[in-house]
Order: sequence, then structure tokens, then C-alpha cells
Amino acid sequence: MKLSLWLFVGLVMGSSLFAQPKGYNYEEAKVPEYTLPELLLMADGTRVKTVKQWETQRRPEILDLFKKEMYGRAPGKPASLKFSVFDEQKVLKGKAIRKQVEVQFAGKADGPRMTLLIYLPAKAKKPVPTFLTLNFRGNHTVTDDPAIRLPHSWVRGRTKGEAVNNRATENGRGVAKSRWNVTNILKRGYGLATIYYGDIDPDFDDGWENGVHALYPKPKPDEWGSIATWAWGLSRALDYFETDKDIDHKQVAVMGHSRLGKTSLWAGAADQRFALVISNNSGCGGAALSRRAFGETVKRINTSFPHWFNDNFLKYNDNENACPVDQHMLVALAAPRPVYIASAVGDSWADPNGEFLSGKHANPVYQLYGFKGLPASKQPPVDKPVMGTIGYHVRSGKHDVTDFDWEQYMNFADKHLKKKR
Ligand code: GCU
Repeated sequence: MKLSLWLFVGLVMGSSLFAQPKGYNYEEAKVPEYTLPELLLMADGTRVKTVKQWETQRRPEILDLFKKEMYGRAPGKPASLKFSVFDEQKVLKGKAIRKQVEVQFAGKADGPRMTLLIYLPAKAKKPVPTFLTLNFRGNHTVTDDPAIRLPHSWVRGRTKGEAVNNRATENGRGVAKSRWNVTNILKRGYGLATIYYGDIDPDFDDGWENGVHALYPKPKPDEWGSIATWAWGLSRALDYFETDKDIDHKQVAVMGHSRLGKTSLWAGAADQRFALVISNNSGCGGAALSRRAFGETVKRINTSFPHWFNDNFLKYNDNENACPVDQHMLVALAAPRPVYIASAVGDSWADPNGEFLSGKHANPVYQLYGFKGLPASKQPPVDKPVMGTIGYHVRSGKHDVTDFDWEQYMNFADKHLKKKR
């Protein structure tokens, strides 16, 4: 690209395009040489030839390695899990049904709990396919709707007055609405369900005292870090969907941005009830290949966010090649379900090409099922999505969730989910 064009792009986007932490590699030519662990080579040295071998041997092996070495093992569904639908009514001029559901992890209103906010198209005649996402700042930030309950748990304030002493305030209402085009999602025939991630596990290194961790012993080195815990919360939302006749629980797409994109990929791997998986700008520990050490590295992520992964993952600081898995294997764990990976040009920290490559290198598993996987041999041009059973785009702009991203997710879901209705 010509320098003048870069300058133009830089001006349009403000500093964000170039605001990448210093001291990390952002040049393709400087990516170290690496060999990816082989997706289809089993621990006993034999090669996967059939879907059956993948499903009964190699997939469980890889899933277990990710649990043991990176995200951590999580408990199952708690026996005392309870759902309380405390709000259900028509909103948005009669076009939508809004529900709010308290999910009580220990079956108690004064114990750890999360609030699910759900919008469904009012005119739906059948249970609707639904996007399930976590949000960063509270359910009340997703729309201006004054009836959305403020989070009860820890929040990180960003805008002035949005949080006081880490408690959400009215000032936060609607502040994240540009990321959630609720009207459009409903118009396209989908539901949207969201949970504030801090309800499940507050996003700081708290010694595992808060959120759902209060109910369990302190995690061992191979047990759940925060990403696995947030993913666990997504599975509990799916448990609720199984009880709600307005939602098609077999057609749920789990979507997340950034650290919550890492979470959606892991949720889709750990819980095969999710029908479709979407990673938006998930980067290191998400879709980006760790061995490339492009932008954020394993050491950096483990240092800045020691609570995201389990303690075993620390072994791979500056030592990515020793890890028995890399992130193409995480994408492959979604197979044969559709996965969409989205990058942004201005998000070098997340390694857009590394995100693309993990999709591409997941292809052999999709091919076992007779699917094409990601139909591109190199990263497609900016703003030109490609969609096989794996979809990918790199859009113009910065690290964010935009209407363009949602447009592609819905097109992709139309291709893979709606036809089954
Ligand atoms: C930081 C972090 C990323 C993460 C992002 C986010 O930039 O280094 O790994 O994806 O925060 O979640 O916003």
C-alpha cells in the first residue's frame, strides 16, 4: 500500500491503528520458523483416517490437552442450578420479546448468579435460532432500555461515572450499543441473548474468591482459569435455553469479541451443543497461532492476565514450540460445526494473519467430514469475506465489533442455521 494511503487510513482511524504495545513483532518477515503440531497424528503415532477415529480418539486427546495445558478443566452443570424468569414482555413497539432470567448457580438468590438478557423477534412462529454472547460492561450497556437490570457484580468503569467503587451506575446505560445492532438482528429472524461476563467471574486476579469460584475449591494447575469459567457460564445459559420453548437451543451461535472471542472458541470446543462458533478479533489464546508470536505473545498474555489460563500454561512463556497444541486445533475442535473467524486490519496485536491461518490449518478435519472448511489458501483481501464451513474476514478498521461484522455473522448463520428451520 502506498504511504499516502496509509497516512490517510491512519488519520481516519485516529491513533488506534498504530497504538500497539512496543517491543513486539508486527512484521510478517520476522515471524519465527515453526512447525505446528499435527492435527491428525494421534498420540500412539497412527494417523487419523476416519471421522470415527477423529471423534473417538484424536478429538478427545486434543480437547484434553487444551484442558490440561491451557484453559483448564471445569466442573459440570451444578445439580442445584436454578432459573428465575423475572421479566418477560413485548418491547420495541411490539417487535420484540424481552426476557431477563436470573441463573442461580447454587440455586440461591443470594449466591453466585448471572443475569441473561434475551431479545427475540415477536413475530416468530417457531423457536428461534439465537446468538449468545458475553458482554464486557453490563447488560444495561447493550441498549438504552431503562428496564434492563444493572449488574450486581464487579464492573470496570471506563467512561466517567459509569462505575463507582466498581459498581455499575445509570451512566453506563446504552454505552456499548454500537456493538449490538439489536433491531437488525431481530429483523433478520434471530434472537440475541447476552450475559455480563463479570457475573460469572470478575476479570481480575482475585485469588478465585468471587463469581462462581466461591462455590468451588481453589483451582489446581490444570483447572479452570477465567476463560474456561466464562465459557462454563455460556454452557449454563444453554442449559436455560433447553427449558425455553421460544429459543431453538439446537441452533445457538456463540459469539464473542476479543477475550470473549477466546471464550466463545473455547465454549464451542468444550460444549458441542453450540451449533455455530464465532470469534471476533480473539487474537492470542483465541484464533491466533501462538507459535507465530506476532503481536501479543504467550508470555505477555500470561503476565498481563495471569487469571485467564490455568497455571500449566505458564510453561509456554517464551516456549510456544513446546506446547502440544496450537490454536488451529482449537478451531478444529468445533468441526464439523461451522466456525467464523473475524479479524480487523488495525488490530495487529491480535495477529490477523495468524487468526486466518488457524482456520486454514483446521481444514483437514473438516475435509474428513467431506466439507471444504475455509475456502482460501491465503488471507483474503480486506472487507471480502469468504465462507465455507469455516468463514473468515479481515475488515477495515480497528479492534471492535461493527455492523459489518454482524452482517457477515448473520449471512453465515443464514447459510448454516436457517435452512434447518
Ligand atoms: C488485551 C489483551 C488481548 C485481549 C484484549 C481484550 O488487548 O492483550 O488478549 O483480547 O485485551 O479482550 O480486549
